[in-house]
Amino acid sequence: CVMPVSVRTCHSQDVGCRYRFAHRQTPIIAWILNLKCVTFLFFLCPPSLYHHVPVCPSDAKEIVLKAQILAGGRGKGVFDSGLKGGVHLTKDPAVVGELANKMLGFNLTTKQTPKDGVKVKTVMVAEALDISRETYFAILMDRSCNGPVMVGSPQGGMDIEEVAASTPELIFKEVIDIFEGVRDEQALRMAANLGFKGPLQRQAADQIKRLYDLFLKVDATQVEVNPLGETPEGQVVCFDAKINFDDNAEFRQKAVFAMDDMTESDPTETEAAKWDLKYIGLDGNIACFVNGAGLAMATCDIIDLHGGKPANFLDLGGGVKERQVYEAFKLLTADPKVEAILVNIFGGIVNCAIIANGITKACRELELKVPLVVRLEGTNVHEAKRILSESGLPITAADNLDDAAKKAVAAIKK
Ligand SMILES: *[C@@H]1O[C@H](CO)[C@@H](O)[C@H](O)[C@H]1NC(C)=O
Repeated sequence: CVMPVSVRTCHSQDVGCRYRFAHRQTPIIAWILNLKCVTFLFFLCPPSLYHHVPVCPSDAKEIVLKAQILAGGRGKGVFDSGLKGGVHLTKDPAVVGELANKMLGFNLTTKQTPKDGVKVKTVMVAEALDISRETYFAILMDRSCNGPVMVGSPQGGMDIEEVAASTPELIFKEVIDIFEGVRDEQALRMAANLGFKGPLQRQAADQIKRLYDLFLKVDATQVEVNPLGETPEGQVVCFDAKINFDDNAEFRQKAVFAMDDMTESDPTETEAAKWDLKYIGLDGNIACFVNGAGLAMATCDIIDLHGGKPANFLDLGGGVKERQVYEAFKLLTADPKVEAILVNIFGGIVNCAIIANGITKACRELELKVPLVVRLEGTNVHEAKRILSESGLPITAADNLDDAAKKAVAAIKK
């Protein structure tokens, strides 16, 4: 689950904004405030408050409004209300309501949206601040450190992968002891490495520690602040951030997950997630039905090796039920690109017989029209093979992964 918590709001190179609340707060934001991570300040207007005019921070010298849609090019976009520009700056708080009312509920069309645009349900209202210097800072779970690690660079505001590739000496890391948390000296060292000087160093170190509190409290797998910047007035501010949340923590982060806006996600992925399935769409014509991400990649690779192209892969995961297998088939066959289905299941925790029953049921009820190649291995595989062969369905059995991929590719060529 990935959510951009805020979006950068610069209208030119040197203007950014600090996100600030008006009087309405969604729970996650309230939490962030409780954590005194005061520089994550922003305002969201949920759909139920369409006609609610946002109240602006009174001490802001300049205010920025930005339509929140998942598409770029907003600055140059046009609303069907006639308003030009998805991003506006104003020094007059009275104008904010007027502008917001021409954005909320209207469609914004940009270079990256469909022709009719995307409906704007949320507008961010924030104090606009100048940025005098930009750095990059992130906290993430790192497998090689067996825990959280801080990564920072004085080269912020731009593509961090590019910085890592061309100037690796400008990337700094601090491994965090999960029991101890961020030590003061670590936070200060990171602040210094990020190039914060004088009193700003202490401020930055405090921000870093609060960001780590946030990371823990919201079950994040990554908190990325880019840029973590400073203002000409000498404030350290998280100007923009992206937080990834641990999907396994949904049960205790209900407020966070409730904010997940599925309306702009791929509908097939959303439907798959309902059944605890992971679906990734690709652009070939062989559907891959697998269990485990590793096996999924191997399956895609081997299809490729034999001259085919995967249309997608659907990861069944462990703890499979017949119903899931059925729903999975429904998703795969609904894709008109799919010309063959390759099932490649390794039964470790998964019982192959359950898969076989799910497959035969799905084939009958969905009247499968494309060739189906099945390779099962592992727990209860003999029973599974019996179920498939006695089903009388036109299922091509394969002995191993290589054989399965060859047969799937051949099925399409026919
Ligand atoms: C507005 O955008 C939505 C998609 O978000 C689209 O379905 C709808 O047709 C658009 N409305 C108009 C009036 O263009």
